[in-house]
Amino acid sequence: MEIVKEFSRFAYEYDKYNVIQKEVAKRLASYVPKGFYNQILDLGSGDGAIYKTLSHNNIKFNKFIAFDFSKEMLEIHPNNSSIEKICRDFNQPSSFSMFKNDEFDLLISSSALQWSSDLLSLLNLIKPLSKSHYFSFFTANTFRTLHQIANLTSPIYTREDLIKILDKVFNYEMELVEYTLDFNSVHEMLKYIKKSGVSGGVQQLSYKQMKTLMLEYPLSYLEFEVMFVKVIEKK
Ligand SMILES: C[S@@+](CC[C@H](N)C(=O)[O-])C[C@H]1O[C@@H](n2cnc3c(N)ncnc32)[C@H](O)[C@@H]1O
Repeated sequence: MEIVKEFSRFAYEYDKYNVIQKEVAKRLASYVPKGFYNQILDLGSGDGAIYKTLSHNNIKFNKFIAFDFSKEMLEIHPNNSSIEKICRDFNQPSSFSMFKNDEFDLLISSSALQWSSDLLSLLNLIKPLSKSHYFSFFTANTFRTLHQIANLTSPIYTREDLIKILDKVFNYEMELVEYTLDFNSVHEMLKYIKKSGVSGGVQQLSYKQMKTLMLEYPLSYLEFEVMFVKVIEKK
């Protein structure tokens, strides 16, 4: 397993809360080889960034399952005769009982599985369902400096946790990408974090912590770290 590090810089545009997720979805989808996939499962499909990018990349399929526990997100996911929407929680093992082994040619999940409450069990559960797997996870280095200053622990998996878990289930290739997003003020950053749904912790900030952040945050940008995983074989 080789760690390839990259760095990308973006500017926050007013009211665009998913700038980084969209970039991440594009990058993850670009790893998927062109071709025909009978059935695709997208875990934590959100508003359809993966569906849109795969279609744009000329990936063909018979059926695309958009799986998300948010009805609101599924409502804004594109609709057509090849798309089936499933409103389920990936933290509930029973959510997968309807699927057979090897039912999918492609299982993909972008910017969602960092929220898994038991990632090892989930990966073991979804491993047999598909012939190929592609994942992207935000890591605990997301908002690293902000967490340090506010004395918060990231609620999501560290890079080391993710590697340890993935090593038990798959042989895989991975890439780490750091992104930054520029803002005009710390106030804007905090607003972005609350609305973006990327990584929390900030919701629990007291007034005092908030004030400390406003005064002491040394950067004009937020930091993100994303791990991209392409499974080579199952263990
Ligand atoms: C950051 S968004 C990413 C959406 C999309 N994959 C993308 O790349 O833009 C994470 C999505 O995962 C969904 N999600 C989070 N936890 C989930 C769970 N336990 N079960 C199912 N979906 C979940 C959220 O509702 C949200 O739509």
